[in-house]
Amino acid sequence: MGKKVTLSVIKADVGGYVGHSSVHPELIEKAKGLLSGSPLLIDFHVTHVGDDINLIMTHELGRNNGEIHQMAWDVFTACTDVAKKLKLYGAGQDLLADAFSGNIKGLGPGIAEMEVEERKSETVLVFMADKTEPGAYNFPLYKMFADPFNTIGLVIDPNMHMGFNFEVRDLIENKKIVFSAPEDIYDMLVFIGAPGRFSIKRIFHRGTGEIAAVSSTQRLNLMAGRYIGKDDPVCIVRCQSGYPAVGEALEAFAFPHLVAGWMRGSHHGPLMPVAQRESRPTRFDGPPRVICLGFQLAEGRLVGPQDMFDDPAFDTARAKALEITDYMRRLGPFEPQRLPLDEMEYTTMPQVMKKLKDRFIDLREKKSKSSST
Ligand code: 13P
Ligand code: 13P
Ligand code: MG
Ligand code: MG
Repeated sequence: MGKKVTLSVIKADVGGYVGHSSVHPELIEKAKGLLSGSPLLIDFHVTHVGDDINLIMTHELGRNNGEIHQMAWDVFTACTDVAKKLKLYGAGQDLLADAFSGNIKGLGPGIAEMEVEERKSETVLVFMADKTEPGAYNFPLYKMFADPFNTIGLVIDPNMHMGFNFEVRDLIENKKIVFSAPEDIYDMLVFIGAPGRFSIKRIFHRGTGEIAAVSSTQRLNLMAGRYIGKDDPVCIVRCQSGYPAVGEALEAFAFPHLVAGWMRGSHHGPLMPVAQRESRPTRFDGPPRVICLGFQLAEGRLVGPQDMFDDPAFDTARAKALEITDYMRRLGPFEPQRLPLDEMEYTTMPQVMKKLKDRFIDLREKKSKSSST
């Protein structure tokens, strides 16, 4: 067996510049400086999508390694200090319980990791999204790994024809279940079609049992009687030779599906695929966007990146996303632009209910009284 390499993508929002739109260059420099001195890493790349810093790292320490996670935490803490000095918006948002940014805090850094034995050529795509939630990848991951209208390899590549196993998490009850595609897809869609609660965590090749994709889901937090925890998610996908071709993986984003997030984490909007330099969501703090950096791994070295959505072939997807943006915005405070009551990050409902308590007339009571007289 060859040497195993772990690809760890760890992200956090530790302060927005300006508002929730982007990351200040000083924070990126700080993160690069700290990682470049680390003896733990083989290689790394630091980037951002919107206001989230993403640390893309390779090493030989495996998944859930305490030293790697501690290092990422320390990098984010150091970046928070810079953010505080610059008085950036919501400094330490995803780290500190006391950094008020006007909305419910994130639950700590998001993490997606996979340990692989490098193939002869190891192609990986790292997807990173801002202004949305982990379940946002359910739709494209299903398209990539289970829908032959997206991925022709499922039909014509003998190394893919046996399908993939999907590990799905129930983020509320903290349970997991594995579905096999294609035979379980009708059952699986009952769950993953509700991405606010059920999220695809990992996908495995059914022939080899090897990891194919992983996303940064985390359990939702029960706060004030409601489950909350929108956290701008990342996802790693292996490509080629038994996995979706790069073009098949990217094709899953050519249709800008609706995701939860956007303004104040309380709206539905289209997930717009953009070049990294265009990941500065400013219209109503959106629309939500996703970037993709592609790498070839070579003994753990990250050869790349290529900015995969920096391609005019995605212009029509972007135009469609903007058309949907105009349509959804016209709905203003009405659903489905606004999220259902129990999914919003912000709500004034308890205060308003309290204020109007005496003005609500209980019609059930009135009816039962009148019927008894
Ligand atoms: P693989 O057989 O290596 O996956 O190549 C297929 C391909 O890239 C077609 O686009
Ligand atoms: P982030 O989750 O990207 O920080 O955005 C929060 C928000 O409230 C945007 O309006
Ligand atoms: Mg933010
Ligand atoms: Mg963000």
